[in-house]
Amino acid sequence: MSTSALTIASVLLKSRRIVILTGAGMSAESGIATFRFNPDSHWSRFDPMELASPEGWRADHRQVWAWYESRRADVLAATPNAGHLAIASLADVLGERTGGMTQVRVITQNVDNLHERAGSTEVIHLHGSLFAPWCTACHRPGQFSSNAPDRNAIKVEPPRCAHCGGLTRPGVVWFGEAMPKREFRMAEELVDACDAMLVVGTSGMVYPAAELPINAHNMGKFVAEINPEPSVNLENMSLRWPVTAAEGLPLLLGHVREARPN
Ligand code: OAD
Repeated sequence: MSTSALTIASVLLKSRRIVILTGAGMSAESGIATFRFNPDSHWSRFDPMELASPEGWRADHRQVWAWYESRRADVLAATPNAGHLAIASLADVLGERTGGMTQVRVITQNVDNLHERAGSTEVIHLHGSLFAPWCTACHRPGQFSSNAPDRNAIKVEPPRCAHCGGLTRPGVVWFGEAMPKREFRMAEELVDACDAMLVVGTSGMVYPAAELPINAHNMGKFVAEINPEPSVNLENMSLRWPVTAAEGLPLLLGHVREARPN
């Protein structure tokens, strides 16, 4: 039995608005690479300025497109892990206990679709999506050339826009680009209004996403970190639970399920 899980569960059972911020560690146990701190992570292997910046795109858009297509292939081949499923169930279980009065919302920095495939609805994507390419000329949503992207291609020519013939780019936020305004505003509003926040699988290195738990902490809210390693925002956490997402979140769900109705 984990004391951290019991403490977090008791806070969640008293909360009406819960926000869960997730990062790359959330999808690690689905086999999706994280960005930092281990030899298989993206930024240990590749230069982010080459693959995730407007400059990199201008220098070699075929290389950039191929890399995002290989990441899309990885996500298509992956399945949501027990942590994604537990988050989706938490929303159902806590909502049902209070006749729909408890709201659990997910804000993610991840560009995969594993929360949605696990059953979470209305997920806010702060860094865009691998599945939402757009035209660099007319800014309309774009199409992929294939539903079975090549995982191993080094260079792939991006498709042309069906409306204007412009070049299609990945629908993700790159270094040096602003976060989507609407999504970030919605995330800030959810944090302002929440009673409790869980921060799962993020290093806290990338702003402005990293400021969301700091703001919640400064507003006096309960903020719990679920991560096998400490993030850089440790001092802003009410509680740190050193456990992986796929191990910890199902335990937490179990405690919430066991609790008798209020
Ligand atoms: P990072 O790669 O920076 O951090 C991953 C975090 O997940 C670390 O704190 C790990 O300890 C933790 N972790 C690893 N395995 C885990 C597991 N099984 N369960 C729980 N936690 C685990 O990823 P992010 O913080 O998401 O931006 O990175 C933020 C942004 O930096 C990304 O969205 C991306 C990147 O550059 C863009 O692409 C715009």
